[in-house]
Amino acid sequence: MIDIHTHILPGLDDGAGSLEDSIALAKQAVQDGIRTVVATPHHHARGYYTNAEQIEIETAKLNDELDKRGIPLEILIGQEVRVYDDLLADLEGGLLSTLASTQYMLIEFPSSNVPRQADELFHELRLLDITPVIAHPERNRELAGNLRLLEDFVEAGALAQLTSSSVAGKMGRKLQKLSLEMCKKGLVHFVASDAHHAINRPFDLASGYEAIGKQLGQAFVDYYQLNAERLVRSELINREAPAAKRRLIFW
Ligand SMILES: [Fe+2]
Repeated sequence: MIDIHTHILPGLDDGAGSLEDSIALAKQAVQDGIRTVVATPHHHARGYYTNAEQIEIETAKLNDELDKRGIPLEILIGQEVRVYDDLLADLEGGLLSTLASTQYMLIEFPSSNVPRQADELFHELRLLDITPVIAHPERNRELAGNLRLLEDFVEAGALAQLTSSSVAGKMGRKLQKLSLEMCKKGLVHFVASDAHHAINRPFDLASGYEAIGKQLGQAFVDYYQLNAERLVRSELINREAPAAKRRLIFW
């Protein structure tokens, strides 16, 4: 499996605090069945500021360390970028990382609302041939309260990434129900762990996919997994979600 949203790099944000934390996360990822992860440290959120050069250096160091220790996990470069005023200028200045150095960029909204400049920003990104991937829309209060808003973003060309723990039910039944609803409506294109710490916010991608398989059918699992593969290969993402599994009704 491929995980496109993780905070596995040490010391850059509220994810892994040290190299040993990163190694613990890496071992856990391998155990969960993950072979490739995109490292997406926060930028411009929660007081964390990261830049492309720093992420590249830390990614190379961690890959070396994993190699030395014989842990079969590959780390790719990425970043989780909060919407902010100078985002486009910083992108042009080479300060920001896209996901796996592709045309896809992980964009985070604050948890309370959708920033008013998001529409305009997404439009500008598309003009630069960059497709925004909205991180965990199910955890944004405004999107969660009005799926039409998310539909508008997706219709305008954005993609969205659901958190595996949300759909697995680990964040409560309400969030699980909402997550499944987003999947059924074709508003989700990727599932990722958003792992921060091996104990507090672990890799649990397999359980997310398991819940999706049970609730919606294997076609959804295949669809999300293939999209993650396509993303890291810089290929086009399939925007058409499979049809939801029909429940058998016994009369
Ligand atoms: Fe994150």
